[in-house]
Amino acid sequence: MSKQIPLAGVIGNPVGHSKSPRMHGHWLESQNLPGHYVPLEVDAQDLPDVLAAMPRMGFVGTNVTIPHKEAALAGARRVTPRARAIGAANTLTFLPGGGYEADNTDGYGFYANLAQSAQDWAASDGPVALFGAGGAARAILHAMLEAGAPEIRLMNRTRARAESLAAAFGPRVRVLDWGETGPALAGAATVVNTTSLGMAGQPAFDLDLSGIRPEMLATDIVYTPLETPFLQAAARRGARIVDGLGMLLWQGVPGFNRWFGGDAQVTPELRELMLAP
Ligand code: ATR
Repeated sequence: MSKQIPLAGVIGNPVGHSKSPRMHGHWLESQNLPGHYVPLEVDAQDLPDVLAAMPRMGFVGTNVTIPHKEAALAGARRVTPRARAIGAANTLTFLPGGGYEADNTDGYGFYANLAQSAQDWAASDGPVALFGAGGAARAILHAMLEAGAPEIRLMNRTRARAESLAAAFGPRVRVLDWGETGPALAGAATVVNTTSLGMAGQPAFDLDLSGIRPEMLATDIVYTPLETPFLQAAARRGARIVDGLGMLLWQGVPGFNRWFGGDAQVTPELRELMLAP
């Protein structure tokens, strides 16, 4: 008797640009595991039907991306504590007996990337200056607080969004005005851009970063280009920099291992593959 080949995918709209199929395909192939991982373009109105039907077709789980991350959380039978805290899901695993568990691995991916790329760095090293207050910022805030960051100095163009994150995550989060980089960077250990500024086709990151010091670690979630103007500015001031591609790779690891029973590795070879056109 042959067992059904496990399927997984990424649900989004649009989803054609997603590099997750390439990544999971690489892991399946390099570990010689049976399975397929496919992009699934799904309208918001169809999401519940699609998620209900998938396990009947052999899907063991799926990633979800924009614009489905909140709806996927809302429809879950089980929710992990971190997905609950972040308020969005990106990794769903179908459960025996119906329904799915919703997890969020974005914060994990962010943290694992830093921990692996800068082994003597720790979130507890000192205050974190964090730009942006969107969905990615929420996941990163959660991961950094869990990992022991003593203080997060949060700046966002729309201050109200930063205020609402601070209200959700408690007194270790302090809101500063967008542009108040002097006080935000003073004595900080880690500097993080979670805005889309600096991404190819988006406006430049043009805040004053002269407060960045050599002992700081700077990272950007933007990875097109790999070395963003934000990271270049940090590197010019002697800071260590970690690019954002690793976050994308690491956020995929827990789902892959869970669904396909593998041991996904983030390697230079995988990075090369993901950067290829
Ligand atoms: P994501 O889920 O990737 O975080 P998002 O929720 O759309 O995406 O958040 C995008 C982030 O980039 C926000 O912090 C946004 O600031 P606002 O909350 O003020 O919109 C920030 N951002 C986007 N364009 C910006 C710009 N031109 N100047 C400053 N911040 C910008």
